[in-house]
Amino acid sequence: MIIDLKDRVALVFGAGSSGEGWGNGKAAAVAYARSGAKVVCVDLNRAAAEETAGIITDEGSTALALAADVASEAQIIEVVARVMADFGRIDILHNNVGIAQIGGALELDEALWDRSMNVNVKSVFLACKHVLPHMIAAGKGAVVNISSLAGMRIAGYDMPAYYASKAAVNHLTQALAVRHAREGIRVNAVLPGLIHTPLISTTKGMAETFGDFEAQIAARDAMSPTGKMGDAWDVANAAIFLASDQAKYINGVALCVDGGLAARIS
Ligand SMILES: NC(=O)c1ccc[n+]([C@@H]2O[C@H](COP(=O)([O-])OP(=O)(O)OC[C@H]3O[C@@H](n4cnc5c(N)ncnc54)[C@H](O)[C@@H]3O)[C@@H](O)[C@H]2O)c1
Repeated sequence: MIIDLKDRVALVFGAGSSGEGWGNGKAAAVAYARSGAKVVCVDLNRAAAEETAGIITDEGSTALALAADVASEAQIIEVVARVMADFGRIDILHNNVGIAQIGGALELDEALWDRSMNVNVKSVFLACKHVLPHMIAAGKGAVVNISSLAGMRIAGYDMPAYYASKAAVNHLTQALAVRHAREGIRVNAVLPGLIHTPLISTTKGMAETFGDFEAQIAARDAMSPTGKMGDAWDVANAAIFLASDQAKYINGVALCVDGGLAARIS
């Protein structure tokens, strides 16, 4: 099966990476480009968006880097307007941004709870609110939401805001999928399990859950049924498939990319 996204425009929110190496959003942006799409790389961190766009253009494909906060409706509106002005269409909307706030109900303050919900869930609503009209007008479109297995399972960290926000992304995905199916739009979620990306070293308090960073890596590998965490390309490859015409009858799914973790009892 060849994933051919030639002439498609993919808008990737969270296309940078929070540290060295490959994050899920950065890998997805590059994977869309390698499949033929023109890619708009959006990130809160302009330098991170530019780095990803640079990788894509160095490989001979088309990319545009933009800075925006996905929790801001005004900034999403600006991004969508710019993409429509430059490319005239949006075929793929990829919502990758997600932040983890470590801390239970007793420790987390209201502002951090709100930020999790705004960045992880409201962002998906806002991006869909402003991109879907263009897809509806075109009669076609694919949305890929990067959720998490943490939306279905408790993953070893004390982070209720993250768990709740990702559960909301899963259900929002289904709601949008059902509502917009007759308009030619598919909305699916990818649920990464334990993935070795920069996020696990840059998120405050994650490593400390297991002692230190090395202990966290060992614990995450051990928790994975395969004995190893996945990598950002595992998530990216699932996303490009879901965004492609090969997945034309797949809608509203929560696709676990977790090496079998969700299937395990303990
Ligand atoms: N690594 C894992 O084990 C794992 C597991 C399950 C799900 N996920 C999900 O994968 C997604 C991200 O993974 P990643 O590896 O790309 O993470 P990452 O932290 O490397 O990259 C996320 C990017 O989003 C950007 N960002 C953060 N807040 C933003 C905002 N408000 N507006 C715009 N951009 C913003 C960051 O600057 C960063 O470049 C998240 O949704 C996360 O919940 C990861």
